[in-house]
Amino acid sequence: MERIVILGAGQFGLAALSLLNTENLEVCAFGDNSPRLWGQNIRSIPVLSVEEAIRLCPNLVLISVADEDRSQSLAAQARSLGFAGRLLFMHELRQYFDVRSAVLLRLGESLKKRGIPGSLAELGVYKGDTARKINALFPDRPLYLFDTFEGFDARDVEKEKAQGFSQAEKGEFSDTSPEAVLSRLPFPERAIVRQGYFPETAAGLEAERFALVSLDADLYAPILAGLEFFYPRLNPGGAILLHDFDSRRFPGAGKAVEAYEKAHGPLPLVPLCDLHGSAVIVRDSFDG
Ligand SMILES: C[S@@+](CC[C@H](N)C(=O)[O-])C[C@H]1O[C@@H](n2cnc3c(N)ncnc32)[C@H](O)[C@@H]1O
Repeated sequence: MERIVILGAGQFGLAALSLLNTENLEVCAFGDNSPRLWGQNIRSIPVLSVEEAIRLCPNLVLISVADEDRSQSLAAQARSLGFAGRLLFMHELRQYFDVRSAVLLRLGESLKKRGIPGSLAELGVYKGDTARKINALFPDRPLYLFDTFEGFDARDVEKEKAQGFSQAEKGEFSDTSPEAVLSRLPFPERAIVRQGYFPETAAGLEAERFALVSLDADLYAPILAGLEFFYPRLNPGGAILLHDFDSRRFPGAGKAVEAYEKAHGPLPLVPLCDLHGSAVIVRDSFDG
């Protein structure tokens, strides 16, 4: 059994921990340069300083931060502390593999094969990376695109701050436009842009039914509003791909699920092992 230390106790560290093969690896500790994390446990694994973690003499060190510069600086730190073994890099995994998109693709293919009817939607489109994939998968179905296209709304940011969920700022993600998104879609004629503040922009769509919805608005208020609007309008077997369900940067998404479940009962939700803490919610045929 090889002993491994994970350097980086943020979102990527958490994702790394879920992905590691514990049949072959013993996870000794997280190491992080942020003193506020020292002494915490993540799923029973202690968070130590980088120095203390390297002192545990691992065979392997997994560098689990998103960008290459920080990865290289942590790698240099491990070497300078005497670690001579093998280094693995999570940012390389992200560069070449994308679990969330793979799930979206497999989910879409499966919905088509099983003949689940309904429209498509994304709440939180930004530049259209995900919308483009959904549009390519379903050239013959309407795709509703919900976004302010002016970034986060002050009303949502205020609630987010009042509840201490995230450091979101009004106008974040505003460097986009409906035209820019439409120009990236393979079948733009299927897209229906609903620009403005959600849930206001859902007015008039009460009778619509959906097969697949991407919920990626980051913040508590729009995610809760999205669950309230879309879950009852999924056709049986239809699915919501929920981003940030288990996110350290945007914990409001997970809190929105808690609030929804408190009001309506448990959702049929499966967490994914992607790097962003996404989840899939599939509409049961028998629920209310
Ligand atoms: C992380 S981005 C979406 C990323 C996108 N899904 C992708 O594939 O790249 C979040 C988006 O949610 C939008 N958003 C957040 N709250 C909203 C609200 N209440 N109404 C409409 N759009 C909202 C923001 O404007 C932003 O573009």
